[in-house]
Amino acid sequence: MLQNRRQQDGWQYTVPATKHYPYQWLWDSCFHAIILTHFNLRAAKAELRALVSHQCRNGFVGHVTYWEKQHDVLKIDWGLPHTSSLLQPPLLALAVFRVYEKDKDKEFVEELYQPLKNFYDYIWRERRVRSSGLIGLVNPDESGEDNSPRFDEALGLPPLHEAKANTEKRHALFAKPRQCQFKTGCTSQEFWVEDAPFNTLLVWNFDLMSRLSTIVGKVKEAKDFDRRANNLKQAMREHMFKDGVYWSLSGLTGKRISAKTSSAFFFPLAAGLYSQQEAAFVVKSHLLNKDSFWLPHGVPTTAKDDPAFSADEPSWGQPWQHPHWRGPIWMSVHWFIYQGLKRYGFNREATELREKSLRLVENSGFKEYFHPLTGAGQGASNFTWGGLVIDMN
Ligand code: GLC
Repeated sequence: MLQNRRQQDGWQYTVPATKHYPYQWLWDSCFHAIILTHFNLRAAKAELRALVSHQCRNGFVGHVTYWEKQHDVLKIDWGLPHTSSLLQPPLLALAVFRVYEKDKDKEFVEELYQPLKNFYDYIWRERRVRSSGLIGLVNPDESGEDNSPRFDEALGLPPLHEAKANTEKRHALFAKPRQCQFKTGCTSQEFWVEDAPFNTLLVWNFDLMSRLSTIVGKVKEAKDFDRRANNLKQAMREHMFKDGVYWSLSGLTGKRISAKTSSAFFFPLAAGLYSQQEAAFVVKSHLLNKDSFWLPHGVPTTAKDDPAFSADEPSWGQPWQHPHWRGPIWMSVHWFIYQGLKRYGFNREATELREKSLRLVENSGFKEYFHPLTGAGQGASNFTWGGLVIDMN
């Protein structure tokens, strides 16, 4: 965390990996703040202050904040001066809440409350589908799981394809918000997915926004966030819940996406979207299934028995051309599942997942992700998310 820390103009933030990810990323910084609550609360707060420092007037916070422009990575004309024009999973309320839990610093919550409220209002206002009440994404990268098979259909790709084809399709969409002058209705003609994990994390964060509103004495806003959480939860039940799990929906018609991914099935455990009985079914039938998700080194992002599963890293190319979210294990996913298991009382399974996570970092280092069958480290090095193991306690 110290090696990846950057300071500029009195601000402080952490880059996910020095070489390959040299800027500030939205959900990464939320993870960073949570990791930092175990070492240095002042740094955790600084990370979150920096994250909202380039917020647009309409509440939008881009998935990348460009503090320094000289790097070669992601050189794209987003149409905004210092940020990208895409979202990422909205974990800001969770991160601020976790900081607050440590020292009960109400002033810090008061300082960040309005930027957070504006951010969540933006998503609710700009991305909600009137007919279903669900939130839609205009680019796979907004899910944080850039090349996940959940987006293949909307991109027009088969389950097995060259990484290059995926990258090219996503990059071709990057310019869309600028070309569409940031109007969602226009962007969504090209790409639209109602992503189960994103909606799940939003329900959870609306719940936490309600608690943050109460902390700063905004009773009406607390009720509003509660109502949003409930509305979204109900919409997810109605449209996404089938055969005991949550599925994402593709395109403006909302066609069910059949890819089996761990975040769609198991993030709802962390957010409390299943009843105890439903949770037991999801854990026993899916999570602990040795042919799909309960693999020797941990839980893969895409199930081993899904046609899109691939985990081998080519010996060539840049990290973003690698299997990424189509099979490998990511520590953030382990961290979410761990919390879900604890929430529903699956303590033995949670401990096993924690031990596997520790082993991955001990044996393979702070790598971006890990091979689910061999445990080998893959992708970028000196990647911060391995630090989340400290929070599995
Ligand atoms: C990759 C990941 C994304 C992350 C970014 C920076 O693009 O897919 O989730 O935010 O790297 O670490």
